[in-house]
Amino acid sequence: MSARLTAREITLRYGDRVVSTRLSLDVPDGAFTAIVGPNGCGKSTLLRAFARLLRPDAGRVELDGREVGDYPAKALAQRLGFLPQDPQAPEDIRVRQLVGRGRFPYQSFLALWSARDERAVTDAMAAAGVADLGDRPVRELSGGQRQRVWMAMVLAQDTPYLLLDEPTSFLDITHQYQLLGLLATLRDQGRTVVAVLHDINQACRFADHLVAMKDGRVAAEGDPTDIVDAALIEDVFELPSVIVPDPVTNTPMVVPTLRADASALRADVPTQRGD
Ligand SMILES: Nc1ncnc2c1ncn2[C@@H]1O[C@H](COP(=O)(O)OP(=O)(O)O)[C@@H](O)[C@H]1O
Ligand SMILES: [Mg+2]
Repeated sequence: MSARLTAREITLRYGDRVVSTRLSLDVPDGAFTAIVGPNGCGKSTLLRAFARLLRPDAGRVELDGREVGDYPAKALAQRLGFLPQDPQAPEDIRVRQLVGRGRFPYQSFLALWSARDERAVTDAMAAAGVADLGDRPVRELSGGQRQRVWMAMVLAQDTPYLLLDEPTSFLDITHQYQLLGLLATLRDQGRTVVAVLHDINQACRFADHLVAMKDGRVAAEGDPTDIVDAALIEDVFELPSVIVPDPVTNTPMVVPTLRADASALRADVPTQRGD
């Protein structure tokens, strides 16, 4: 698989806090890549670098052979859509208006709001399952509804590359699978999808390419079926598990072997003994 979105030996940091050093990653084109890893390992930081919201200290992030920092803002926004982990809606904005902001890269003095923009917004809202929320203030929605509205905004942007930071984190289980199914469909239509996911079993089901991160590095990457085993899960998540075939898709399914009574989090909870 070819890669047109790549990170070449990038060093990423916030002030003195270095998150990644000389990290390289080729994002396979036209595939669904899932990034997994423990809290704080640098997943969001990496995605922000791909979306050029964070400039690497060293190394390059390239799209089509050109450094992302060299693209004019609108040109990049026509190529690459980014859903941050914690997007903030402007006060008082309504759903349809917010989704419409996804059309910003196509607006100019000469090209104001068009029928094409209108259609893109309507289609994106339908795909994200928020068609009936158009007039609602975004601030008044539930966390899951709001997350689907943001997803609609990114879809309205209509980009060949989609970078999504935990797009399912607030969704109920049905909406999680609907969204992942939608992303798989977009992939089937030729788009390149990169999503940070927390559910490793969902990642194994839906992703063609799995990137497991630890401490700012790529610990392993490849087809989930080729790379996911108990040793990897132990290494990356420090979680003992057995790996069984997913009964529905035959992809790897991680079943933790930690029992509730062995949980470190429970160790400090006072126990009540009946004896
Ligand atoms: N704006 C920031 N300023 C300083 N440190 C940050 C900032 N954002 C994230 N970090 C730190 O960078 C590291 C990686 O964070 P992040 O990429 O958000 O992790 P992940 O998305 O994998 O949970 C963490 O140690 C986090 O505390
Ligand atoms: Mg994150």
